[in-house]
Amino acid sequence: MAKLHVSTVINDEPVEFLCDPHQSLMDALRSTLGLTGTKEGCGTGDCGACSITLDGRLVCSCLTLAAEAEGRTIETIEGMAQGDRLHPLQQKFLEMAALQCGICTPGFLMAAKALLDRNLDPSETEIRFWLAGNLCRCTGYDKIVRAVMETAAEMRGARQ
Ligand code: FES
Ligand code: FES
Repeated sequence: MAKLHVSTVINDEPVEFLCDPHQSLMDALRSTLGLTGTKEGCGTGDCGACSITLDGRLVCSCLTLAAEAEGRTIETIEGMAQGDRLHPLQQKFLEMAALQCGICTPGFLMAAKALLDRNLDPSETEIRFWLAGNLCRCTGYDKIVRAVMETAAEMRGARQ
């Protein structure tokens, strides 16, 4: 089957790759581009482990075709830290032990960042609603929600 050529921008870097017409963006990121921070949980859009942003919109990369990345801008978990400096959400997840096995963590971080990019003062209900598409089998969710709330509070404080 003929491969498709895709030109895109991933984490601020121009990237070109070849993909099969039916290949998912999750598979291209992980297998073709070696960006294995994006995790595969279900492969059917139910767990959020593969969350990335496409032109700023949070999507499940397992439900997105690699070919759809043509001309678009992608952010993955690999682009979240700035060099050695973790994003405040990453730092807070570590400090508050908001992860155990870690498979769900990149997806939660991408989703939480997308929320805080839009709204730096979400209520607990809004955070739980926003993260409802991300499943975690380990933490019981409370530590994750608390970590997002604390991060938002600190980021609001830093802005004042
Ligand atoms: Fe994409 Fe589960 S792997 S939603
Ligand atoms: Fe294991 Fe969330 S930390 S699934």
